Amino acid sequence: MHDIIQRLDEKRKAASLGGGQKRIDGQHKKGKLTARERIELLLDPDTFEEWDTFKEHRCFDFGMDKTEKIPGDGVVTGYGMINGRLVFVFSQDFTVFGGALSEAYAEKVCKIMDHAMKVGAPVIGLNDSGGARIQEGVASLGGYADIFQRNVLASGVVPQISMIMGPCAGGAVYSPAMTDFIFMVKDSSYMFVTGPEVVKTVTHEDVTAEELGGAVTHSSKSGVADLAFENDVEAITYIRRLMNFLPSNNREQPPQQKTNDPAERLDYSLDTLVPDNPNKPYNMKELIVKVVDDYDFFETQTEYARNIITGFARINGSTVGIVANQPMVLAGCLDIKSSIKAARFVRFCDAFNIPVITFVDVPGFLPGTAQEYGGIIKHGAKLLYAYAECTVPKVTVITRKAYGGAYDVMSSKHLRGDVNFAWPSAEIAVMGAKGAVEIIFREEKNDPEKLAAREAEYKDKFANPFVAASRGFIDDVIMPHATRKRICRSLAMLKDKKLENPWRKHGNIPL
Ligand code: HXC
Repeated sequence: MHDIIQRLDEKRKAASLGGGQKRIDGQHKKGKLTARERIELLLDPDTFEEWDTFKEHRCFDFGMDKTEKIPGDGVVTGYGMINGRLVFVFSQDFTVFGGALSEAYAEKVCKIMDHAMKVGAPVIGLNDSGGARIQEGVASLGGYADIFQRNVLASGVVPQISMIMGPCAGGAVYSPAMTDFIFMVKDSSYMFVTGPEVVKTVTHEDVTAEELGGAVTHSSKSGVADLAFENDVEAITYIRRLMNFLPSNNREQPPQQKTNDPAERLDYSLDTLVPDNPNKPYNMKELIVKVVDDYDFFETQTEYARNIITGFARINGSTVGIVANQPMVLAGCLDIKSSIKAARFVRFCDAFNIPVITFVDVPGFLPGTAQEYGGIIKHGAKLLYAYAECTVPKVTVITRKAYGGAYDVMSSKHLRGDVNFAWPSAEIAVMGAKGAVEIIFREEKNDPEKLAAREAEYKDKFANPFVAASRGFIDDVIMPHATRKRICRSLAMLKDKKLENPWRKHGNIPL
């Protein structure tokens, strides 16, 4: 017995040292934490239950029979708590074969994913890996595919979060790509399908790993990542914060958080937020933070498609998803990137019972060949589809422009918007007055005076919320200062909303 306990201690020690002190020091020198340090920081103190600490690879090829087997085989897996709520976690250990994935390693990841699905808890993956373990060949590829399959089955059932904290290349990028949120760490993480050397050979482009697939690239250019952080500690702190907004699975309501922020709070500064000149921008974020509980807004994709804002907040203690046009960027137009960004966000909220609040100031879809050739029809349809299939409570506030197809798309009454408000400054029409009269009164184009009169007439008739309100498309015209109060009441009324889409295997969202 004594011998066994001694062996157990030795094995645990070996597992906790991973690839050894030298490699741990190397990891620290790069400004990175180790796999275990990351888990420690992620979970509440003393809540981590580790599994498969003693699992080893079963590879004998290419000298693997001669190398020392490290218990745990390069990935730390198990479960623990974040603010008292259960999560499953895997953390890739770069000090063991560069965190490369073996068949046994994949089995460990699959095991915690299967349990997460059984008990309905989120999966958080901390990625830091050289990809498929080259010595294992197809066994490793099979291991990846087993994880991919589980990512897909878990999608929309439990939240899946990926943190990229080191290399993530080749096909390995596709597991994070299928999760709900991807966070990256600046200067120490990257994701690409093929690295800079292959790029150089094939396309003759000179590009660094950071430029090709670093945190800034993916959070601002490609949109693959949601947020980029300065270091491991900041990134992990943000995951903990994000988890506080999310339910543990698709059968749960989002967690409640006590607030002292009164539901009936009025904010008179909002009455002057929208400028008199309809062409002048204003910052939609000001409205968002002034309306939500405790001015606390967790924005996602802050640097990507900034013409639309997405993120989580709370209203009366309950999580809501916010989608808002941002007049400060591209005048708040919808384009390919913003449509995709918002569509994915709306679908996440819908999958996880999170009500959606939409703030609208949209002059329309962005015109131009770049957009048309890029498929704005198909990509814009994604957002339309997402709002139309969404069955969670939907509250919409039109602050200013709601023109054309974009009016329909942005959670309008016609797409089963539950409560649709407009501010007095709202302009709900097919298009702006100038564009409209230039088309309908084309024959008067050489008479600027007449045209100006027509424009004034069109503005008077349509640049207001009353035409839409007279048809019931707008439930009420509200004063900006009462926006929080009216949203709070609407969501309280919608608390037990039940709405189901017709049975089908799945819809066919335009991809
Ligand atoms: C086995 C690997 C490995 C791998 C790294 N190592 N990647 N062992 N399989 N894929 C080992 C190294 O041999 C080294 O061992 C240790 O990990 C650390 O690696 P270094 O190269 O010293 O570290 P660094 O300089 O930081 O470079 C990290 C790296 C580089 C950029 C990740 O190691 C690299 O390019 N590795 C190969 C990446 C790759 O081509 N992977 C396959 C991708 S294809 P020692 O003992 O010397 O410390 C793929 C397909 C997935 O993943 C498909 C899914 C469908």
